[in-house]
Amino acid sequence: MFKNITYEVTEGIATITFIREKALNALNAETIKELGQAIEKVKTENVRVLVFKGSGRAFIAGADINEFRGKTAAQIKSFSLRLQRVLNNIELLEIPVIASINGFCLGGGCELAMACDLRIASSKALFGQPEIKLGIIPGSGGTQRLPRLVGKTVAKEMIFLGNNVDPDRALSIGLVNKVVSPEDLDSTVNELAQKLARGPSFALSQAKEAIDRGIEMSLLDAIQMEANVFSLCFSHEDMEEGVSAFLEKRKAQFK
Ligand code: COA
Repeated sequence: MFKNITYEVTEGIATITFIREKALNALNAETIKELGQAIEKVKTENVRVLVFKGSGRAFIAGADINEFRGKTAAQIKSFSLRLQRVLNNIELLEIPVIASINGFCLGGGCELAMACDLRIASSKALFGQPEIKLGIIPGSGGTQRLPRLVGKTVAKEMIFLGNNVDPDRALSIGLVNKVVSPEDLDSTVNELAQKLARGPSFALSQAKEAIDRGIEMSLLDAIQMEANVFSLCFSHEDMEEGVSAFLEKRKAQFK
């Protein structure tokens, strides 16, 4: 069905793998279209966790620079909005989304990873927003999601200089959750995905929403919203099971 990505679901865990290896998985228009379609599938199928992977030497080496040439500002704006929409849809998924980052994670690749909830990196990964070197700026959320994740100081350094950030620094600035050896990347991500897939899906979706929505609100409004979302969890069977399991000294079995 897809040419530039693969999409598979195993035991509630969907994996979207970028397979345009000859271009280091650069996001061309066709890949972005396929990605949008795959996200729609995730929404309609019984998926509990989504994982993104890149095949070959890269996670994603950015937007496809070949498609930048000879475009009008209007055409580029439409491209930017299209990729932004897909990344927004990833962020808005009601399930945990993990980026499994094996190699180059640049430009649009870093922007996609930042739209995910958790980022696990191999020690061979390389991060950056190198657009400034092309005389442009990040156009798929980078100027907005990066400072929200790592703060303005580091975001401005990364975006002004376009320098690569190695995995240790990515970990220290909070851009990734964990760095593991390349051999351990798949198993680490699988374990994490399975753990989340076994978790209470309603509470996970509510935690995600409370964090993502709350961070854009004033603190007082946000904690009010948190009280609403917290109380909503008490209407769900997962709470019944979680609390009963604790009191009965057994492991919770969420449906
Ligand atoms: N768009 C289109 N093609 C890309 C690409 C991108 N963002 N990134 C890599 N490629 C292509 C290269 O053109 C090359 O194709 P070719 O074999 O037909 O010449 C192929 O992928 C391999 O890349 P190459 O540059 O030869 O590998 P490298 O190991 O020497 O360098 C990078 C890897 C990632 C450092 C380098 O490719 C690069 O700087 N890419 C652009 C990153 C970028 O600016 N991203 C933001 C775009 S807005």
